[in-house]
Amino acid sequence: MAKKTLADLPVDLKGRKVLVRVDFNVPHTSQGEISNDRRLRGALSTIQNLLKAGCAVIAMSHFGRPKGDPLKDQPFTMDRIAKRLGELLGIKVQKANDSAGQHAANLASNLRPGEVLLLENLRFDKGEQGGCPVYAGKIAALGDVYVNDAFGTCHRKDASMVAVPEAMKDKPRVVGTLVAKELDILNTLLSHPGRPFVALLGGGKVSDKIGFIKALLNQVDKILVGGAMTYTFLKAQGVGIGASRCEADKLEVARELLSLGKGKVELPEDHLVVSALDAPHTSKVIEGDIPEGWIGVDIGPKTIARYQTIIAEAKTIVWNGPMGKFEDKPYSQGTLKIALAMAKSQATTVVGGGETAEAVEAFGLDEKMSHVSTGGGAFLEYVEGTPFAALAQIEDK
Ligand code: 3PG
Repeated sequence: MAKKTLADLPVDLKGRKVLVRVDFNVPHTSQGEISNDRRLRGALSTIQNLLKAGCAVIAMSHFGRPKGDPLKDQPFTMDRIAKRLGELLGIKVQKANDSAGQHAANLASNLRPGEVLLLENLRFDKGEQGGCPVYAGKIAALGDVYVNDAFGTCHRKDASMVAVPEAMKDKPRVVGTLVAKELDILNTLLSHPGRPFVALLGGGKVSDKIGFIKALLNQVDKILVGGAMTYTFLKAQGVGIGASRCEADKLEVARELLSLGKGKVELPEDHLVVSALDAPHTSKVIEGDIPEGWIGVDIGPKTIARYQTIIAEAKTIVWNGPMGKFEDKPYSQGTLKIALAMAKSQATTVVGGGETAEAVEAFGLDEKMSHVSTGGGAFLEYVEGTPFAALAQIEDK
């Protein structure tokens, strides 16, 4: 069922205070410096539309995984995020020192139409991840309207995602522009994809993606595997993987997935290997068994060529997980060449969030994809078909 969007809100919004749950959990340095602001840019459309309609916006998000130690959690304060958001919006963004305390309540009550307030990191308060109704009630009291524009957090049951909209049952509750777009694209993709429908699957662990792979096997015509998960699949088939990364306790699961996906799952036939991760000068290409002591770090040229041909013939491509250790330039060719093949293709190309989105952006190819999702875990779970309690709180159209 489609969810109500900003377009379904009452026509006269002038003077309303709108609580917008965004996902500003951005990639960052250990000091909390923003290293990629894509999630902030993704929320601009909703915020700008509300400001244009004469509303005051109270934005709220978590940032990182604070542990409850104020000193150690300092990098996760929202100060830098408020500043960057202000630069992107071209206005000053006010920042509260708490999320459900007196400071937030005072700033919210004095907020004027056209102004933006960002609450302090929601996860600084235990009530957020505990789904606490008292905490949620205090936040809910700040707004007249609730907007969920946090696609990347839709798989979580945190208070701001579920208990806050629940406490605002008698007020309008809609999804923002970003969530509406993500849902629209994923629903179209899953309900009537152009065929051949190809999934590219990489990254470190099979265990993170078991449900995702099983769901994809029912949908797609081919799954092309890359990244470190390759070696768990190869070992499960009795192929030598040398000292490559492998989930020894997931070999049985890998065998089960390969048998379920018979004829659909393609594994690399050659690999870029090194004698140590920090020794790119030792790299060589190996076909078949990887010798003892050698570590696979990327897919090899034959695999790249085979995958490029399959990508060129596809009508729909979903990509989640890099093909190799792309963050180290000497090992980035597989991921780069697959990204280039997707950029060139006429297919509908959807990139899952997290590392894959970062890779595509780092190559300057994000604009060439049909859609780059802002969801990492949320993207995987939505494709798996997991119902989201956060979306259940939003009114149906
Ligand atoms: C994400 O980045 O996947 C979301 O912001 C959720 O963050 P979490 O995994 O810390 O709950």
